[in-house]
Amino acid sequence: MLRVTDLNVSYGKIRALRGVSMSIPDGGSVAVLGPNGAGKTSLLRAISGQIKPTGGSVTWGEDDITGRPAYKVVRSGLVHVPEGRDVIAPLSVYENLLMGAYSVGRQGVADRVEEMLELFPSLRRRLKIASGRLSGGEQQMLAIARGLMSNPRLIAIDEPSMGLAPTVANDVLNGLRKVHAAGTAVLLVEQNAALALRLVQDIVVLSRGEVAVAGPAKDLEAEVLASYAN
Ligand SMILES: Nc1ncnc2c1ncn2[C@@H]1O[C@H](COP(=O)(O)OP(=O)(O)O)[C@@H](O)[C@H]1O
Ligand SMILES: [Mg+2]
Repeated sequence: MLRVTDLNVSYGKIRALRGVSMSIPDGGSVAVLGPNGAGKTSLLRAISGQIKPTGGSVTWGEDDITGRPAYKVVRSGLVHVPEGRDVIAPLSVYENLLMGAYSVGRQGVADRVEEMLELFPSLRRRLKIASGRLSGGEQQMLAIARGLMSNPRLIAIDEPSMGLAPTVANDVLNGLRKVHAAGTAVLLVEQNAALALRLVQDIVVLSRGEVAVAGPAKDLEAEVLASYAN
């Protein structure tokens, strides 16, 4: 269980998050929705240790991980795939995958790469190519696969559909669905509410740094889609 309680994040005088609380059960799935500037990325960054919150707490299982550095959070089984994919362009697809594997034993790496290629088959014939030459969709698949190399119990993903054609965004979503079905918890940040609603059990809508609406996706679907249609 990941539990965020009363979280505050500020950048100088800008208050990006105010009193945000949410949780994800083991193996659960939550979408964080909301317009640009709502605080979605700040929430992921505070959870994964890339920024220190100014108040509140983040607990992960039995551990209080509030303000814990990012590399330690990864080792505890919580991975964050950042906005904009962030693959290392000059390195090959294979090398990028290896970079995600530092907490997997050497023995496990080949098997894990194979699992990733089964999850995202279009990466297989691209293995030796510099990642910067991949399409946007392939880069997103690689970024997710790299995050999964460490075999996390929760993967947090920031706007995976951004800039992708609908069919490609759908391929990415299908990959995430398989990851979730295999038991990994998913924390999905999206501006594309309709896409996110096809994957997740629960929704949190952020507005100006605060939770505006939260609850089961099936109860909120109509309301959320209507508000996004405006
Ligand atoms: N590094 C930063 N420095 C200053 N302000 C920031 C920084 N990152 C985000 N912000 C501000 O914090 C607020 C929330 O941003 P962000 O978390 O990126 O929202 P979202 O991901 O929902 O678009 C916005 O007002 C944004 O301008
Ligand atoms: Mg963002």
